[in-house]
Amino acid sequence: MELFEAIKGRRSIRKFKEKVPEDELIEKIVEAGIWAPSAGDLQSWDAVIVKDHQTKLQIAVAAYVQEFIAKAPIVIVMCANKANAGARYGERGRELYCIQDAACATQNMMLAAYALGLGAAWIGAFKEEEIVELLDLPAYVRPVALIPIGYPDEKPETPPRRSVKEALHREKY
Ligand SMILES: Cc1cc2nc3c(=O)[nH]c(=O)nc-3n(C[C@H](O)[C@H](O)[C@H](O)COP(=O)(O)O)c2cc1C
Repeated sequence: MELFEAIKGRRSIRKFKEKVPEDELIEKIVEAGIWAPSAGDLQSWDAVIVKDHQTKLQIAVAAYVQEFIAKAPIVIVMCANKANAGARYGERGRELYCIQDAACATQNMMLAAYALGLGAAWIGAFKEEEIVELLDLPAYVRPVALIPIGYPDEKPETPPRRSVKEALHREKY
């Protein structure tokens, strides 16, 4: 798939077919995350894959009852590893780099899912403490995004984007 087609054609998918994506596809998606840039190449993030229906239901509840999350065949919980980045970069590593690492990996994974014919969404609205408890995350691992993944069962409209002129400041803000 051509890169700009992937960047522009990817959409957030919130309705999935029942078919569970094959493990090889999920591994390819995680591998795409691993190839994202990261601070010091430390790759300070971890992914937890959830297929268990009960756990997915509880994740959906923690995400302010976004019910479609529970209906996705797979949910990947993307986590920032504060200890990993913090060991080299101190507070900036713990509070910023590990979150940026996880975000870069997440976007790579969303693009890879699209290129492989799957659909995904980036879910940021959730109660962190509930996800921590549910998945037994250690104190140094912070959940930063939920990614429900499956075969898409919708074709969303293309949402609007602002112009380059609006986003880009030249020389000074
Ligand atoms: C940080 C972040 C948090 C988001 N949180 C949610 C969310 O909680 N629920 C949801 O349905 N979509 C969420 N989204 C997806 C956005 O709504 C979506 O990316 C945006 O509307 C643009 O649509 P597109 O992804 O199809 O281009 C989030 C996206 C990002 C990057």
